[in-house]
Parts: sequence; C-alpha cells; structure tokens
Amino acid sequence: MTHAADLTGQRVLIVGGSRFIGAELARRAASLGAEVVIGARDLDRATEVADALPGGAGKVVRIDVLEESTIAAAAADIGEVDHVIVTAAAHHDVPVAELEHDKVVAAFEAKVIGPLMLAKHFAPRMRAGGSFVLFSGIVGWKPGPGSTVKGITNGAVAYAAAHLAANLSPLRVNAIAPGVVDSGTWDEKVGDKAAFLSRAGEHTLVGRYGEMADIADAAMWLLTAGYVTGEVIHIDGGGRRVA
Ligand SMILES: NC(=O)c1ccc[n+]([C@@H]2O[C@H](COP(=O)([O-])OP(=O)(O)OC[C@H]3O[C@@H](n4cnc5c(N)ncnc54)[C@H](OP(=O)(O)O)[C@@H]3O)[C@@H](O)[C@H]2O)c1
Repeated sequence: MTHAADLTGQRVLIVGGSRFIGAELARRAASLGAEVVIGARDLDRATEVADALPGGAGKVVRIDVLEESTIAAAAADIGEVDHVIVTAAAHHDVPVAELEHDKVVAAFEAKVIGPLMLAKHFAPRMRAGGSFVLFSGIVGWKPGPGSTVKGITNGAVAYAAAHLAANLSPLRVNAIAPGVVDSGTWDEKVGDKAAFLSRAGEHTLVGRYGEMADIADAAMWLLTAGYVTGEVIHIDGGGRRVA
C-alpha cells in the first residue's frame, strides 16, 4: 500500500533517521514532498541517508536523545518544524537478575525522557497542525522473559503520548507500537534471522512479520490524521492478541 499523504512544504524531523525504521521514514516522508531533517548520533551515516533521499538532499543535525544540550542546539539550528518523529531506543534485554542500573536508565532516557525533552524544545517551534510520533513496541503488551525493560519503557511511551497530547494540545502526539519488523536491527541480534522472523510471523493473526512499509504507512498517516491524538497505533498484525 502506498499512502496518499502530501507533505509538500512540511518540515519533518526524524530522530533516529540514520538507519533502520527511522531511515525508511525519512525516505518515505521525502517521497511525499517533506523537507526532511535527520537527527542522529552518527552524522556520517545520517548524511549518507540524507544525500540519497528522493527529491534532493535532506538536512542533518546531531541529536543524542540522552543529552538535552544536543536537542536544544538542534532546535535552535532547525527553527520551525511541522512534525517530529522519534525512533530512538537503547535496548537492555536481559533477565531481571542481570539488570545493569546504567543501562536501565539509558533505556528510559532513549525511549521516554528523550521524547519528553524533544517535546520541551520542539513544541514551541511547531507550526499549527504539527505533531509528534513516538515509538513504543508490542512487548509493552506482551510480558515475557528477558524483556522487562523493553516492556516497561514501551508501556511508558503509551502514557507519554497520552499525557503529552493533553499538555501540548492542540499539537497532536501519538505513538506507534510495532510488532516484529525486519528493519535491519535484528540482523546481528538473532542467530538465524530467517527462523526468528518466521516464528514472529506465526505469532500474529495475519501470519507474517512486519515490513518497513507497514510502519511507514502508519507513520505517514499519523502525520496527516488531524483528528487523532494521544493514541497508540498497534502495527503488529494482531500479534499482541496471540499467546
Ligand atoms: N524493529 C522491530 O522489530 C521493532 C519492534 C517493536 C518496536 N520497535 C521500535 O521501533 C523503533 C525503531 O526500531 P528499529 O527497528 O529502527 O531499530 P532500533 O535498533 O531500535 O533503532 C534505534 C534507532 O535509534 C537510534 N538511537 C539509539 N540511541 C540513540 C540516541 N541516544 N540518540 C539518538 N538516536 C539514538 C539508533 O541510531 P544510532 O544507534 O545509529 O544512533 C537507531 O536509529 C525503536 O523504538 C524500537 O524499539 C521496533
């Protein structure tokens, strides 16, 4: 499916846009006419993505969501925006007995506190009709071994979307909760990626794992869905309803 959204003339900041889902969202937003700004820690990789965007090179800014100063500097540099999407995550998927305090903190900073700081610095610069899109994930609704931190942070993102929406109104704030998506992030995290994805597909109602296009369709729709705010959109093939 390709979405008919028209983002011509709209400036879209994508934090985490140098790779995986974030890079795909940058490409999709650019293909819909947006002026894309990629916020990332790795400026070389971000520049590679920005240079290859459809419709001409996008802008790149350094943002590490764990450092508020980089968010403040990026906001001053970019100026007005229409939308901010944040895919940043710092994973710490271990059993409770192996939790490391600083990695737990980093996970919360990347998924929850970072978006709060982005809201602080970018909401005042957001044009009328603007929105934030945060990234949650299916594990927030499917507790399981080794995914405590991911589950709690993903759940917290849902609350962040609801509370930010109420506080930043009439700006809109929503979150996407993907199921397992073949974004590139799994390439080095699982031994046999094909088997992992196949199993993930079996644990959905639609019988397949997620593609980047599934997430891009939903994200672009959210940017233009002017009557939707404070929501979590589950793009998981019904996976959270399957044991
Ligand atoms: N793919 C899936 O199956 C899946 C499933 C459920 C939920 N999600 C969620 O969807 C989002 C995107 O996932 P993904 O598949 O693209 O893979 P990912 O590995 O979670 O991507 C994380 C992104 O965040 C960036 N990042 C990490 N720390 C950052 C920081 N401190 N400041 C700025 N950027 C930072 C990374 O870039 P650098 O490390 O290069 O800086 C990368 O672009 C994440 O929130 C993830 O939890 C994904």
